[in-house]
Amino acid sequence: MVNSLRAAAGRLRRDGFLKTVPLIARRLRSQVMAVVEDRRRGVSTSREVTDHQLGFGDSRYHAYVATDYDTFKAAMGLVDIRPMQDVFVDFGSGKGRAVLLAAEMPFRRVIGVEYSMQLHADASRNLAALRHRRCGEVELVQADATRWPVPPDATVLFFFNPFDGEVLARVCENIRASLAESPRKITIVYVRADKFFEHEIAWTEWLTRIHEIPCSDGKVAIYENKAAG
Ligand SMILES: C[S@@+](CC[C@H](N)C(=O)[O-])C[C@H]1O[C@@H](n2cnc3c(N)ncnc32)[C@H](O)[C@@H]1O
Repeated sequence: MVNSLRAAAGRLRRDGFLKTVPLIARRLRSQVMAVVEDRRRGVSTSREVTDHQLGFGDSRYHAYVATDYDTFKAAMGLVDIRPMQDVFVDFGSGKGRAVLLAAEMPFRRVIGVEYSMQLHADASRNLAALRHRRCGEVELVQADATRWPVPPDATVLFFFNPFDGEVLARVCENIRASLAESPRKITIVYVRADKFFEHEIAWTEWLTRIHEIPCSDGKVAIYENKAAG
C-alpha cells in the first residue's frame, strides 16, 4: 500500500493531476477489493513480496504481486470455459490468488506452479482455508516453471508477468513441446502482456491474439494457438 501511494505521488509530479487522479482511484479500489475479497474467502494473498525477500538473485524471475481481483474477473470473462473439461494452469502462482479464483470456476483441474518455497507454502495454507470450490481437483506444485513439463491436458494457461527473457522462452518451448506431443486448442491469458510477452514471444507464428483489454498500468491479452482448429 505504502509503495503504491509513493509511486502515485511520483506520478502526480510527473504526469499532473488529471491523469493521476483516476489512476489513484483505481489503485485504491484494487487495494480495498483485495482486503474485502481475501477476507470473504478466509485467505491472505494481498501482501507483495519483493525480489530481495524472495532471494531469487536473477532479475528474470519476477517478484510477487497478486493479480488484481477485477482484472482476473475481466480477463477470465473472455475465456469460454468448457465445464469439467478445461484444465487451468497458473505459471508463477505465488500465494495462489489466481488458483483460488480459478477453483471457483468449473475447471476439471486447476494447477499452480510456483518457484518460491515460501510462497508455495502460503498458497497451500490459502487453499486449505478456501471455503467454496467449484472445480474438480486443485494441485499446487513447487517447481521452477522452466523445468516443469506442461501436462498434455492443460488448456487455459494463465500468466501474470512472472518472468522474462530466457526463462519465458523456455517455458514457451515447454508449452510447444506439450502441443507437439498432444495437439489441442490452448488459450493463453496474459496479464501485463505489454511488459515482455508482446515483445519477446507473442509475435511468433504459433499464436493469434484474440482479445486485448486494458488493465491497471497496462493490458491483458488473450491468445490461441494457430493450429487450434
Ligand atoms: C507477478 S507474480 C504473479 C502471482 C500470481 N500468478 C497471481 O496472479 O496472483 C509472479 C510470480 O511468479 C513466480 N515466479 C517467478 N519465476 C518463476 C519460475 N521460474 N517458476 C515458477 N514461478 C516463478 C514468483 O515467485 C511470483 O510468485
